[in-house]
Amino acid sequence: MVSLDQIVEDAKRDFSSAVDAAALEDAKARYLGKSGLLTERLKALGGMSVDERKSAGAQINQAKSAVEQALLERRQSLSNAVMLERLSAEAIDVSLPGRGQSSGSLHPVMRTWERVEAIFHSIGFDVADGPEIENDWFNFTALNSPENHPARSMQDTFYVDGKDSTGKPLLLRTHTSPIQVRYASEHVQRFAAQAVMPPIQVIAPGRTYRVDSDATHSPMFHQVEGLWIGEDVSFADLKGVYTHFLRTFFETDQLQVRFRPSYFPFTEPSAEIDMAFSSGRLAGRWLEISGAGQVHPNVLKNMGIDPERYMGFAFGSGLERLTMLRYGIEDLRLFFENDLRFLAQFPA
Ligand code: PHE
Repeated sequence: MVSLDQIVEDAKRDFSSAVDAAALEDAKARYLGKSGLLTERLKALGGMSVDERKSAGAQINQAKSAVEQALLERRQSLSNAVMLERLSAEAIDVSLPGRGQSSGSLHPVMRTWERVEAIFHSIGFDVADGPEIENDWFNFTALNSPENHPARSMQDTFYVDGKDSTGKPLLLRTHTSPIQVRYASEHVQRFAAQAVMPPIQVIAPGRTYRVDSDATHSPMFHQVEGLWIGEDVSFADLKGVYTHFLRTFFETDQLQVRFRPSYFPFTEPSAEIDMAFSSGRLAGRWLEISGAGQVHPNVLKNMGIDPERYMGFAFGSGLERLTMLRYGIEDLRLFFENDLRFLAQFPA
């Protein structure tokens, strides 16, 4: 009869040559199964005397636990192998470059906005902000357009139900000029104690609203307004500053600028600023780019400024218009349709 030691050794060898879990279970059955070698030995104990059974039983059980131990170890090492295999088969190479997340970019009008701020900032202008829902005083009355004055109809707007805390009607601002009035009034108060008011030099970019909608007008659009008030800020300064701005914005000195007489309630004299490129698709064509003028004495008074002492200029330009000219965009509506084929042409 085969010795117990031999059985244990055979079992160990069979286990270690089992290549997978199924083969291992088959091998296990040969030793520990219902009619396995060790099971048979245990069954045989029944026919032995008490003394024999005691020592043989102990030996068989020892052999059995050695086999069980070997089985456990092999099971463990097979499952480790399976795990390792899966790990290498399903490995993720974290060193591979990503698939690419396309990064967003600024809307072309926002680019113009930032560019305009940077240019005016570089020549000493502050940047101001104000509410889009304005009251009637800041948007019209303070700007020399009294209630019921026909000049108000130049800028038809959306009125908002209700009034503000001072009882004034509310509306969506038609231009960013009201920001100037707010800014100037605060400036005047801040420096009230000084003998000479430091100059006001500010631009006010923002969203504006009018009842208008076609290829060159949108009910919501963007403006940038500029204001420079001091003791001797003249129309010549307006010409210098605005021409400098246009040449910097369009990156060319080959740009003609002209000031054409016009009318605005808040400036006197008033002008329409036109520009012409000297080369390119639009060469030689005069393009209207901005309203401007010397701030009207009534407006200065409404800001709390003495028109006998201080004077200056204001201008207001459309950010969409500047953007269209810079990039050669023909239809204003493209800005608001959010078509990615259009927007993707302005990468970051
Ligand atoms: N606020 C004017 C408009 O929107 C533009 C302008 C500003 C004209 C300042 C003159 C001076 O039409």
